[in-house]
Amino acid sequence: KRVKYQVELVGKAGYPHYMLKEIYEIPDSMIKTTYSLMEKYLRLAAMIIYGAKNVYVIGNGTSLHAGMVSSYYFTDLANINVNVVSAAEFPYYALKNVSTGTVIIAISQSGETSDVIKSVKLAKQYGAVIIGVTNVVGSRLSLESNVYLPIGAGPELAVPATKTFVSSLVALALLAGYTGLYTGKLSQTEYVGITEKIRETAKELRKDLQVYDNIAEKISEKLLGWKNMYVSSSGINYPVALEASLKFKEASIIHAEGVQLGELRHGPLVLIRDKYPVIIIKPVEEEALPLYNKVAEYVLSKNGFLITITHDDIGYGEVVKVKPTHKILSPITTIIPLQLIAYHLGVKQGYPVDTPPGLAKAITT
Ligand code: G6P
Repeated sequence: KRVKYQVELVGKAGYPHYMLKEIYEIPDSMIKTTYSLMEKYLRLAAMIIYGAKNVYVIGNGTSLHAGMVSSYYFTDLANINVNVVSAAEFPYYALKNVSTGTVIIAISQSGETSDVIKSVKLAKQYGAVIIGVTNVVGSRLSLESNVYLPIGAGPELAVPATKTFVSSLVALALLAGYTGLYTGKLSQTEYVGITEKIRETAKELRKDLQVYDNIAEKISEKLLGWKNMYVSSSGINYPVALEASLKFKEASIIHAEGVQLGELRHGPLVLIRDKYPVIIIKPVEEEALPLYNKVAEYVLSKNGFLITITHDDIGYGEVVKVKPTHKILSPITTIIPLQLIAYHLGVKQGYPVDTPPGLAKAITT
């Protein structure tokens, strides 16, 4: 009922689908997130994480992938190790290590996903403190959390999540950054610099989206007909490869597998021949570049169809350039052309990209 009400209220504003409209709303949602997070709650959450015995990050689907990116944020910005676990696995995996002093960062754009709520309730029984990251104020997650951070992305109606993924990343980057102020990893100036960089990147994106959209449409044309592909990366963009694969499944209804770049060599490469599509997000970590070169050369030598998403002009195969940015913001920008390729590929095949068959915006039972 709530979703129906929103559909009537929100409208498509001239876009053919909610998914496309919501991708175009990403720059605004990023900026809204930076204002939506009140400093007193960020501070409280950061203090709790700083004093924690152990930290788990949980979520499902897209929110799990946002959680995976956050582990790089916490390492880079706060020197803190967090354990990222699917909320569907959490009750079977981690509960023995949960007690007073444990912090759970629970991510759910809807705030209603049953695996998340179940895990949060269990963790609370064992003494954990819950930090909720959600787009819906008043949702079950917001009510179950000790502190919650509203990402403020505005209503998202397409089943494939796009702007809420990016806004969750913004919220998690700011949370990790704020925690870094307590651990001493970041100075106040550096923290403020991240917020400013997020807003600058959003403004740049506003100008670049149409260009990415045009490129994505052309690439989707070349992928038509394929039912399998790999999306791969290493480092902070590895979770983006997983998230892009999920978009290809949800919106384009094709089997895309997200594989860590080094892992591609341990078996998956055997499928690459006859123009088999491989999308690689070129790693932003310099140490991973030799691996990228090696894998890319192999893909081309086996006649695979290679697309490289990169922040510079240097890449193998078909190169899609996204603006250079701070490492922390790389996943926020690299995911956008991939969301757009998945969208166009779905539309070109005549699929209902906003409402993929058999899927729901949130699994609440
Ligand atoms: C469902 C949706 C996914 C979404 C997941 C988690 O499975 O189909 O697109 O990522 O739920 O949703 P949440 O609202 O918890 O972020």
